[in-house]
Amino acid sequence: MAKPMAIEVYNPNGKYRVVSTKPMPGTRWINLLVDQGCRVEICHLKKTILSVEDIIELIGNKCDGVIGQLTEDWGETLFSALSKAGGKVFSNMAVGYNNVDVEAANKYGIAVGNTPGVLTETTAELAASLSLAAARRIVEADGFMRAGLYEGWLPHLFVGNLLKGQTVGVIGAGRIGSAYARMMVEGFKMNLIYFDLYQSTRLEKFVTAYGQFLKANGEQPVTWKRASSMEEVLREADLISLHPVLDKTTYHLVNKERLAMMKKEAILVNCSRGPVIDEVALVNHLRENPMFRVGLDVFEEEPFMKPGLADMKNAIVVPHIASASKWTREGMATLAALNVLGRIKGYPIWSDPNRVDPFLNENASPPNASPSIVNSKALGLPVSKL
Ligand code: DGY
Repeated sequence: MAKPMAIEVYNPNGKYRVVSTKPMPGTRWINLLVDQGCRVEICHLKKTILSVEDIIELIGNKCDGVIGQLTEDWGETLFSALSKAGGKVFSNMAVGYNNVDVEAANKYGIAVGNTPGVLTETTAELAASLSLAAARRIVEADGFMRAGLYEGWLPHLFVGNLLKGQTVGVIGAGRIGSAYARMMVEGFKMNLIYFDLYQSTRLEKFVTAYGQFLKANGEQPVTWKRASSMEEVLREADLISLHPVLDKTTYHLVNKERLAMMKKEAILVNCSRGPVIDEVALVNHLRENPMFRVGLDVFEEEPFMKPGLADMKNAIVVPHIASASKWTREGMATLAALNVLGRIKGYPIWSDPNRVDPFLNENASPPNASPSIVNSKALGLPVSKL
């Protein structure tokens, strides 16, 4: 017999049943749902990744909407189960939704929400942290101290890379990639080279203006260049951060051949999705090039690492925590809840998912809209006039 689920229930007599597959940070998201007549059920099953069967059991016979996580496989089976239970909406508590089969959701008329805008700076800050940690070998040096190996200052001890005046390469200059680029240019006076199918005029203007400011103050100005290929970035940059979405075109974007194009002492950072890098090729490259360093937040087959990666001193690995600041995680929970609430109530879709601040203001009621529904066009949902 299947183990009974540990469920926490708020507002048992609420008219609409909303299920969250995990407890989420903060309480505002719960209050917002309860205040609008929802019964909220939160699953506390002590199992990190819920299976499709676990989620079918959670959905049950009547469910208006589900808030789920990027570790779950939201495809035909779950959308069919949600639709049978009368559900209208599913929201990922994530900006990425490569775990969701949006075509299948469209087929059942189910809206799919995500949480953009609230994790841009937090994720960029982790990419910047990994960049610095890799450049200055902070994790290796920390391990050395804790192991009691420090016997005194030495000229060669943990010599790393100076970032100032070097070139930062950004692949994918959308919201997060641009925020990271600005941090590295402004904070460390790095020159920028970026590759994106779309021109990032705002980013270019920012670097130009900062370069002029530095020049006016007698300092070496920073520069920018929009590369015509990803390979150009790989060849020229000293530090490269990956920010593409994961789809068929970006799977194993960084492979053996492309790793070989990078400078021997380059640093590679990935806070996007693991399968963007061929991890087996990366482990070989790290082994053969001890001065090449990598900072990884994401892995090809999470939660696992490919054999050998954990042994590499020139790799820094953290468990998919790029969005893990309190403000961001609470905001993600709020946006996911409001995506679900908005569809249940029949509210329109917010017109600009990049401008979600009005939903995050704790001192005011959020607008009557779903902040971000990725298949709103396909489902023909109305857009808010606000
Ligand atoms: C997202 O939201 O897609 C992130 O990967 C979560 O940190």
